[in-house]
Amino acid sequence: MTKYRRADPEISRRKFINVALGTAGAVGGLGLVTALAGVRPPNRITAGKVPAIEGDILVYAEGSQSGQPIKTSDLSDKITRAWPQGKDKDGKPVIKKDEPNNLLIVFKFPTAEIVAPTDLKGVQDGVVAYSGICQHLGCQVGDNPSKPETILCPCHSGAYDPRAGCKVIGGPPPKPLPQLPIKLDAGGVMATGSLSGPYFGLTESDWKSLLEEAKTI
Ligand code: FES
Repeated sequence: MTKYRRADPEISRRKFINVALGTAGAVGGLGLVTALAGVRPPNRITAGKVPAIEGDILVYAEGSQSGQPIKTSDLSDKITRAWPQGKDKDGKPVIKKDEPNNLLIVFKFPTAEIVAPTDLKGVQDGVVAYSGICQHLGCQVGDNPSKPETILCPCHSGAYDPRAGCKVIGGPPPKPLPQLPIKLDAGGVMATGSLSGPYFGLTESDWKSLLEEAKTI
């Protein structure tokens, strides 16, 4: 699946805004503090870009059922790609696919095969979900036909172990794929929190800011 792209434009925009806010702070030091006081920067993300949060339903990201809630009966030890679906401020369902880094991968393994460092509190009946975007340079990860117990990033052969917290087991990725805690709900899959860490391209601090900003959407 190649239609999704890295979110570099958004990240660049965010960095630009951060620079702009820093500049505003410097200007404030020159005497405009009062004028700027109480002025809140506009929201930078939309409901379609908010990261997965507690209560989101996972929906198929591709195939004939695209946009429909995932059925746990369809899941396997191969990748199922998903988007989180939340709600806008009016309660209308929104699939969060405007941010490519929101792409998720979901598996169902025999429960006994799932081991640390997977967060077992975020797993139910062998169903486990992770970010679907490589932590090296932001490509989509995929199944690995030659070593099916692993998943592979096609860009530079980064390899992850989805039964062990998607830890890195080969190639250049600097860290594991963040895990999305889930529970099973009415035959589908629901997020019980946010990703365990920043998706590709964000620092911990940017990630925390983004989650805070998401609460305002
Ligand atoms: S982008 Fe995945 S290994 Fe380089």
